[in-house]
Parts: sequence; structure tokens; C-alpha cells
Amino acid sequence: MNRRIIFTLVVLALGAALAQVRTFDQIKSAGEVRIGTEGAFPPFNYFNEKNQLTGFEIDLGNAIAKKLALKPVWITQAFDSLLIQLNQGRFDFVIASHGITEERAKAVDFTNPHYCTGGVIVSKKGGPKTAKDLAGKVVGVQIGTTYMEAAQKIPGVKQVRTYQKDPDALQDLLAGRLDAWITDRFVAKEAIKERKLESTLQLGELVFQERVAMAVAKGNKSVLDALNKALADLMKDGTYAQISKKWFGEDVRCK
Ligand code: ARG
Repeated sequence: MNRRIIFTLVVLALGAALAQVRTFDQIKSAGEVRIGTEGAFPPFNYFNEKNQLTGFEIDLGNAIAKKLALKPVWITQAFDSLLIQLNQGRFDFVIASHGITEERAKAVDFTNPHYCTGGVIVSKKGGPKTAKDLAGKVVGVQIGTTYMEAAQKIPGVKQVRTYQKDPDALQDLLAGRLDAWITDRFVAKEAIKERKLESTLQLGELVFQERVAMAVAKGNKSVLDALNKALADLMKDGTYAQISKKWFGEDVRCK
């Protein structure tokens, strides 16, 4: 065999070894579903003080697995690597507060949204509250998020600083290294409450709104359909409402 053919065969074999995206039937016969998330985005997905993975999306993911009669196996990875690993078959689906965007929808398939929300400006009292106020300011965002995209589009922003984890941006805001932090409005509310920052921080305007959904590997229709069915059932039978009330005191489904 010439070298070119050998090279081609090696590439094909590697590809096959990596491509382990499972159909719903394959997951069913395995009996467990692998769910990818991040684990640093309270109250959606995070590790609590006992180092247990918890949050609204963990409860919801577990409820979905239960509906499908599957054992959930959680895998946590850096946020900006989740969709890539999803397409490599590392998990069967991802639930990590991904807003549905055109660009992401080219790479993966989204389920129906599991909540609706928006990106909000957070600053110290007296700091910027509107997109306009951000002119000349330093803004912190988690890397690879819709907040990053939004911040980069605001005219006049002096600098957009990116962080591997969202709570690191909050740290820098508190330390005075940022003028503002753009994050999810529920994340901001929870951080202020949890860390008793009511007298230090303020919530400004919503910069954009988004529909947040689970994702499956591109073209994985059987898993997509199963997830949509399970989510619809949970929304109908009261389970979703109960989980949502537990975490937010309100029903966060898209209206
Ligand atoms: N909703 C935002 C987005 O779509 C942020 C998601 C961040 N999720 C996380 N697990 N840190 O990009």
C-alpha cells in the first residue's frame, strides 16, 4: 500500500473510534444516558458546598432520564468544550444553559427550550446600568457565551475580558477590575442573594433575551425526539413546574 492510502485508512479508523454518537435505541439497551454539563453556573448547574452536582438543570436532566427509564450519568466539562465533545459522542446530550443561536444550530441540534431568560448588566452601585453606560468601560463575560457575543457588539466598550468560568468574572467585578459583568439574569439574582451583595451590586438592563435549550449531536434525531417528548411530558404533568418553583420561586418556561 502506498503511504497515501495508509494515511487515509488511519484517518478513517480514528474517525470511527471517535464517532460514538449513540442513537436512542443504543442508549436504551445500555440502560444509562450520558449527560454533559459544566458545573459552574449556579443555580442552573453547579457543585454545592458538599461538592455535589446540583441545580435546576441537574434536577431537570434527572427527571428527563427518569421519564425515559434511563439511569443518568453526569459528565462535567469546561463550558466552551461542551458542544464539540457532544459531537464526538462524549455525551448523549448537553444541558448547560445554551441559548439557541444560529451559529450553534449549525453545529448541533437543539431541543425545544427548557427555559427563557436574558443577559443582564451587573455592576457596583453607581456603576453602569445600560448598554449606553458601557461606553469606555471594561466588561467581563464567560468565554464562549452569548454574553461575550453581546458585549463585543456594544459600541464603545473599552475592553471585553473573558473568563473560563462565569463566577470568576463576578470575583473581578467585586475586586474592582471590571466595571460590569454580563451574565444570566437568574444567575445574577442568585449570586447577589447567596453572597449577600444586595448593598454592593445592582442589576441593570437586560441586554438581550434568549431561549435556552438542550443540545444533541448534529442529526441525532432519535435522541432529539425522545428529549422533546420527555420535556413536554414533564411540562404537562407538573414536574417541571415543581422543579422550577424550587429553584426560582416561579415558572421559567418560555411563554
Ligand atoms: N446562556 C448563555 C449562553 O448561551 C450562557 C450559558 C453558560 N452556561 C454555563 N454552564 N456556564 O451562552
